[in-house]
Amino acid sequence: MRVLVLHGPNLNLLGTREPEIYGKTTLAEIDARLASLAKELAVEIRIHQSSHEGQLVDHIHDAARWAAGIVLNAAAYTHTSIAIRDAIKGVGLPTVEVHLSHPQAREEFRHVSLIAPVCVGTVSGFGADSYTLGLRALLGYLRRA
Ligand code: DQA
Repeated sequence: MRVLVLHGPNLNLLGTREPEIYGKTTLAEIDARLASLAKELAVEIRIHQSSHEGQLVDHIHDAARWAAGIVLNAAAYTHTSIAIRDAIKGVGLPTVEVHLSHPQAREEFRHVSLIAPVCVGTVSGFGADSYTLGLRALLGYLRRA
């Protein structure tokens, strides 16, 4: 089984970006944890980060050719991107939305996720663990499907 992990804008800055909110774990460390979990669970993951909305859309389209599902932190695009929402809906791949922080407990403009309604579920608020929990949740969903 193969899974796409997609990181959105500014997540390349993790480690130094607002560590009081996002923690001190770098994106490379998150990716290494995901790679080790994927090995343990016998799945193949491919990981991409982009700060460009269209590039994220392209990665989602491309995933339709090879992936069984997507773990997605769309970052700020979560709250603004109809294009990413439509891409998820368009390819029909089961997608788990993840966030390091808990947007519902933050500023009001973060309370709306345009992506959540087209995802199978959301994991938020657990820092870097949101990603590993999200991958486990997606695999559980796919294995039950
Ligand atoms: C985030 C939450 C978003 O509101 C924010 O714009 C991000 C990161 C998170 O992982 O907590 O960039 O997706």
